[in-house]
Parts: sequence; structure tokens; C-alpha cells
Amino acid sequence: MVPKLVTIERHISETQRKFPQATGEFSALLNDIALAAKIISREVNKAGLVDVLGFTGETNVHGEQVQKLDEYADAIVFKALDHTGRLCVMASEEREDIIPIPEKFPSGKYALLYDPLDGSSNIDANVSIGTIFSIYRKISGGERGLLEDCLQKGVEQVAAGYVIYGSSTMLVFTTGNGVSGFTYDPSVGEFLLSHENIKIPKRGKIYSVNEGYYDRWDEGMKKYITHLKQSDKETNRPYSARYIGSLVADFHRNLLYGGIFLYPADEKNPKGKLRLMYEANPLGFIVEQAGGYASDGQRRVLEIEPEDIHQRTPLIIGSHDDVKEAEEFLQNKR
Ligand code: AHG
Ligand code: MN
Ligand code: MN
Repeated sequence: MVPKLVTIERHISETQRKFPQATGEFSALLNDIALAAKIISREVNKAGLVDVLGFTGETNVHGEQVQKLDEYADAIVFKALDHTGRLCVMASEEREDIIPIPEKFPSGKYALLYDPLDGSSNIDANVSIGTIFSIYRKISGGERGLLEDCLQKGVEQVAAGYVIYGSSTMLVFTTGNGVSGFTYDPSVGEFLLSHENIKIPKRGKIYSVNEGYYDRWDEGMKKYITHLKQSDKETNRPYSARYIGSLVADFHRNLLYGGIFLYPADEKNPKGKLRLMYEANPLGFIVEQAGGYASDGQRRVLEIEPEDIHQRTPLIIGSHDDVKEAEEFLQNKR
């Protein structure tokens, strides 16, 4: 039996019939991102070899500057998208300011924010890492994009997704009509639909947090994690602890299995560590489209009014009922 070979463009054109706003523009933009993902995947998968073959250090055999993988990934995403005429501006975790589209290329009607390589501290240990992206419509006047196009609330996103470079490379994204997962088949060079209409269980049995920071947490956070560890058959407790240390990998596992990920504010990081615009908002859009919820502990992440492209936010994200329960503890209502 020949499997249904649904590529990204076929999936979007089939979705387009049901949802007219999922225009061909998205298909082209997501395919550009998929191309960047294929190239990054190839580099990530041989990163260990680079070290073994001694190409590390400042220059490689061609005398080129060997870039750290996140700088490399940053450049790949930019180069895959800068000439397409679909974007008016970009912003990246790796660059202080917004990234204008070069004058020689046409400007488009979308803004892209991205974390080119998430979890990069894990590369040498061969642990899954990822790329996260968020897409908004251009709202500023004039031809080229501006900072205001990048500083929109998460609810204004028109598309968001991530790539996870793991045992297989997967692209998971939403255009506001549910969440779809595509698995890369290097033998044909295509991302093929493998997870149609992903839904996250309303409640899970996994919690994901760096417990090394326990002493820095406030009372509500300490009480919540203690609560998850107490036995209670009714509410499937104790939960299992799983923490990979790559947000994309921890998020992806919870999306498929159910569960909650927490990176709360603490004494050292009063705004948390994760970034609103290219980590919390895109994953918040995806999780809500899958039936889950994302909060900063006090309110819905997607409602946060951004002031800076690199601003941080506490992030509590995953199964709807788990995140709502965590909010009760974090707001000292339990
Ligand atoms: P990035 O590599 O893009 O800077 O992101 C790293 C983040 C995220 O991937 C992960 O959840 C978190 O850092 C882990 O932080 P701790 O090591 O403090 O737990
Ligand atoms: Mn990151
Ligand atoms: Mn990063």
C-alpha cells in the first residue's frame, strides 16, 4: 500500500480549500523555512564529526571562519528567506536589532522572528535541539518593515512553528487551523505529513522543570512542584519528571504525550529566562491550537504586550488543565 505522500505544499493547498486565508504565500514561506531546516539538519547531524575531524578552531580547511552552530543556523535562516520577497523584516535571538531585508531584494507582507538554534548548549552531548519561528503580518506603513512589525502581541501571529533535530528531523507548525507535524525524509528531501491535527491531552502525567533552581522559586512554585510529587490516584500523581534542557524537545514531548513545562520567574531571573517573541509566543500559539494553554503564571502569554524583541517572560506551557492548576498555585490560590 503506497502511503499518502503529503508534502507541506500539498497539505497547505488542501487546507486552503477549507480556510481561504491559508494562502499560497504561507505555503511558499513555510517551504523556504523547510529548506533552511534541511540545511541546518545536515549541519547539526555532523556537528560531532566536525569536532572529531578537528575542523574546530577559528578556521576550517578552506580558511573560512568556522561559525558556532547557532550563528551558522542564524545565517542559514536569514539567507533562505532574505531574497524571497515574502518578508519585510526579520528578528533573531542572535542579533541585537531587527534585520532589514536588503535593499536589492523586494519587501513582502510578513515579519519573521526566530530562535535559530534552541538548546544549543546540548549540541556536544548529541541531545535534541531545535529552531523556533513566529510569523506576523506587516502592520507598518511604508515599503520596508520596521520594529513595530516585530513587536506585536502573540495573538496576532498568522503562523508559528518549530523544527526539532532529534532521532528524526520534524517540522511542526500552525497557520491558525490546527497543528500539523511533518517528518523529514532525507532520501526524497521532503518533509512528509506524519502527525495530522496534533491535539495535546487536556491533562498529562509529566512535569518538566529545572529543579536545580528550587531554592530560588517563590512559595507558590515550590508548593506546586511538591503537589505533583504527592501520591494521589485520583489525579495521576506523582507525575514523572522529565527535563531535557532543550525547550523545543521538552515542549514537543509534552505536545504529543501531555504534560507541563515550567520555566518560572525566580530570584535570579525575575522575568524568567525564556524569550517572549521567539520562544514563548510561537510555542504558545501552537499549544493553544492543539488544545493546550500557555501562561506567564499570571495571564495568557499570547496577550502580553511586547516592548522589546528580546524581552524575557516566565513560561508555563502544556496541557490545559495542568497549566490552569499551576496558575492557581503561582497566584497563591492553593
Ligand atoms: P537557547 O539555546 O536558544 O538559548 O535556549 C536555551 C533555553 C531552552 O532551550 C531551555 O529550555 C533552557 O534554555 C534551559 O535552561 P536551563 O539550563 O537554565 O534549565
Ligand atoms: Mn531558545
Ligand atoms: Mn537559541
